[in-house]
Amino acid sequence: MIIFEPEKLINYRHVQEKILILDFGSQYTQLIARRVRELNVYCEIHPFNRFPSPDDSVRGVILSGSPFSVRDAGAPVPDLKGIKGHLPLLGVCYGAQYLTQAYGGEVLPSDTREYGRARLVSVDMEDPLFTGIVAGTQVWMSHGDTIARTPESYRVTGSTEDVKVAAFRIEGEESWGIQFHPEVYHTTEGLTILGNFVRGICGCSAGWTPESFVEMTVRSLREQIGDDGVVLGLSGGVDSSVAALLLDRAIGDRLTSIFVDNGLLRKNEYESVLEAYRRMGLNVRGVDASDSFVQGLKGVDDPETKRKIIGRIFIEVFDREASKVQNVRWLAQGTIYPDVIESVSVNGPSATIKSHHNVGGLPERMHLKVVEPLRLLFKDEVRRVGQALNMPREILGRHPFPGPGLAIRIIGDVTPEKLNTLREADAIFVNGLKQGGYYDSVWQAAVILLPVQSVGVMGDERTYENAVVLRAVTSTDGMTADWSHLPHEFLADISNQIINRVRGVNRVVYDISSKPPSTIEWE
Ligand code: XMP
Repeated sequence: MIIFEPEKLINYRHVQEKILILDFGSQYTQLIARRVRELNVYCEIHPFNRFPSPDDSVRGVILSGSPFSVRDAGAPVPDLKGIKGHLPLLGVCYGAQYLTQAYGGEVLPSDTREYGRARLVSVDMEDPLFTGIVAGTQVWMSHGDTIARTPESYRVTGSTEDVKVAAFRIEGEESWGIQFHPEVYHTTEGLTILGNFVRGICGCSAGWTPESFVEMTVRSLREQIGDDGVVLGLSGGVDSSVAALLLDRAIGDRLTSIFVDNGLLRKNEYESVLEAYRRMGLNVRGVDASDSFVQGLKGVDDPETKRKIIGRIFIEVFDREASKVQNVRWLAQGTIYPDVIESVSVNGPSATIKSHHNVGGLPERMHLKVVEPLRLLFKDEVRRVGQALNMPREILGRHPFPGPGLAIRIIGDVTPEKLNTLREADAIFVNGLKQGGYYDSVWQAAVILLPVQSVGVMGDERTYENAVVLRAVTSTDGMTADWSHLPHEFLADISNQIINRVRGVNRVVYDISSKPPSTIEWE
């Protein structure tokens, strides 16, 4: 189980200024953090009941929304000693309602509709939170409760038609509350309002940039690692590649990267990615272990068992290869921020566990210390750091690809013949997307080989061959996804090419399901 461990944040003490976000379990908490980071201000999310006491680097605090009502018996109650009245404070939605109820005001169930778009009919432009905001601006509301009465020292600074206390300021303190959500796209001036808070009121400079992150991280990595050696498993994906480039910049060839061919990669992937890594100047070792994986998977058709076998063999292969390297004390991993944020669940605080950690257990087995240079970053920030490190587009712009690779895109047992069939069909689809100019607008694309034979005709003969599925989705983080609305002519062309050129396939279908309720992968 991975939780937020400040001591593991290699850069923690090098961050000069930051915003703390106290999480009450809202689905939008991460979005607040992403918006603050878009403003080039560093911030961290902590559970409302477990956060480090603010040191000098903390410039302000944001209280998130929540699925709870402040009137619920078990509603989250933060300890704001040392914060409220001492540091700039902004309560959003539940956060604003908490600041009202806990200090003598009243929050009641709302009898008008307070969900969706609304307009601020009045706004106090003199208030520093609303600098540059004019009446009429659209905001997004999402709450069942409303502030019915504010404590005496609270001054109302914004109202909508239905919500009198859409925003308030606490007199004599640098504390504000807003019942709408500035972080969602539908609040048109949301970024300005957040900018007014973090930059204007809290006084943060816009110093959190990819370049500053690179500089700070390289410095920290050098301090942390000293003269030791580091090993890292490259997957061909963006995260591990950016982690490798950062370490390469910090310690050069004392980083040994290992890229394993598990026999489950796309057509020509192993050779072309290895070549790209070498061109980037990485000290990389390629290991062809495809036979071990394909052997290990023989006759196995349960998806989770396939994943476990692949994870186990990967650990064995990686361990064997890494132990050939001298003086290694560290294992580097491409863990990113959403994997480590401890989230507050509706049923009480608990840690989220990322479901796709296929190679857990590696550090323990190898007795190595773990270094995670991307532990502070969201996915889009990883890409921007990659850009700042001049990572070639062929790596930076790649679609995500699952660790267990094509094995989970062959429904049922995996054989070398099926892998060949799938590889050919997949190459036609992916190349087609690139040539047609669709690759960058699709978030992830896949071909799935079904264990289904269907009848067909070729020439005068009947065939009885396999069906494949084309899957292409748009998404921002893979948590939700929609199927890509690719043109029919394009799909027709790909279908023709696959049926004409890939032996054993006589039917192609396109998956038009979104996530949820479907998932991106079929297994
Ligand atoms: P699903 O199918 O859950 O996939 O909608 C969401 C994202 O996760 C990837 N995925 C995996 N990645 N190991 C991985 O490293 C896995 O076992 C695994 N299963 C799914 C999937 O490709 C998509 O990007």
